[in-house]
Formats: sequence, structure tokens, C-alpha cells
Amino acid sequence: LGHMIHFFEEVDSTQRIAAKLAYEGAPEGTLVVAEEQKAGRGRLDRKWFSPQGTGIWMSLILRPPIPPQQAPQLTLLVAVAVSQAIQEVTGLVPDIKWPNDILLHGKKCAGILTELQADPDRVRSVIIGIGMNVNQTSTQFPEDIRAIATSLAIEKGERMKRAPLIQEILLQLERLYKQYLEHGFRPIKLLWEGYAVSIGKPVTARTLDGVMRGIARGITDDGLLILEDEQNQLHYIHSADIQL
Ligand code: BTN
Repeated sequence: LGHMIHFFEEVDSTQRIAAKLAYEGAPEGTLVVAEEQKAGRGRLDRKWFSPQGTGIWMSLILRPPIPPQQAPQLTLLVAVAVSQAIQEVTGLVPDIKWPNDILLHGKKCAGILTELQADPDRVRSVIIGIGMNVNQTSTQFPEDIRAIATSLAIEKGERMKRAPLIQEILLQLERLYKQYLEHGFRPIKLLWEGYAVSIGKPVTARTLDGVMRGIARGITDDGLLILEDEQNQLHYIHSADIQL
């Protein structure tokens, strides 16, 4: 992965560029990296603050031979890879909040956005966007997210080079992706559960259909969140924002 790298000083969003490259037939493993994004995108139509030089803003093209409904598995796989890379480089152990918020000491330091190009029966490409706050100081975050956002440098107490981090993310991703293609989602699921903070705890899930409260019971083999409500009914959540 990452043998073909497209590097940009400034883009609107690496996600858009990678999607275009994928559509035009770029091979699996193609990586788009930018120093700065002017219109970085987050999950659920949010903006992703991506200032110049302080973070990792990149999108990777994968072409896994799976049906579209298994795509959420890849999101979780990437969350594990990013967590392992952070752990390897900083020595800090991150938590994952379903599906793919990466937290250090309860604050978000990285996020993952996966977007699909798919036929009804098979995935054509998955565009995996990874945003990681590396060297921001807390005052460099916009005020409205200052209380919930952090960077590796803030948590570690020292600045960090970004290139070795990117390398480590790609290394972990490649290892897990190979394991996934050979052995399926099970081993990845176990790793994911090892990092997960929300399992077994009461959570509030904001979905497009409304707000739901319950206990997070785990994830399905497809990567959906299992939520048990007060009537002990199980709900399977595909996409939501979780509050602990
Ligand atoms: C989230 O937690 O909401 C996901 C954030 C994903 C941000 C990354 S930065 C690189 C790529 N390009 C984008 O516009 N978004 C993703």
C-alpha cells in the first residue's frame, strides 16, 4: 500500500481527489496526501479542520473483493491500524469509539471516513480518508471543538514527525488488510474490541431516524453496532454518532 503516492500542498479534500482517481481506475494502494485541506470532510456531513502542516490528511484507495454490506468491516480495520500506529509511535494506548473515532484520554485525535464506489453485489473501490491531529497545540483548534479535540503532541508532550507516522499507519494497514483477506473479519473484530471504549456501557446513538439510548453490546460480524434498549430489544446500528 502507498507505492503510488500523490502529494499536494493544498487541496479541497484528499477524499475527492482519491475518489476521482479510483473512478479513473487507479490501482489499489494509491495514496493521496496533502499538507492542507481547504474543505476537509468528516463523517455525517461535518467539516474536518485540516490546517497546513500540523496533521496527517490522506486518502487511500482499496479494492477489496467483498460485497458492499461488508464495507463497514474495513472502517473498523482502519481504526485498529491507526490505533496500533499511534501506540507504536507514541507509546500511548488510544481508545476507539464506534465506529472509528480515535481518542486519547477521552479526546479525539483522529477520525476515519470511508466512502464506497460499488455495484449491488461487489465493491469497486473503498476510499479511506484518515485525518490525524499530530502537532496542533490546543489553541490552534477552533474554539467550538477545543474541549473535545486533541493532538498526539498535546497528549505526548512533544512534537512529532509526520512521515514516520504515515509509514507506520500504512505498515499496520497492510498487515491487517492481508490478514483480513486471508482470514476474514474475526481476528480484526477481536483487535477492535480490545480498543473499544463503548462496549458494555450506556450510550446515546444519534441516527438519521432519531435518538436511541441503550447499552452497547458489541459489534456484528458485519461491523454494525449492537445496542440493547431498556426493553432488552437489540438494535443494529449502521451509522450514528455515539455519546458515552
Ligand atoms: C471523522 O471523524 O468525521 C472523519 C474525518 C476524516 C478526515 C479525513 S482527512 C483526509 C480525508 N479527506 C477528507 O476530506 N476527509 C478525510
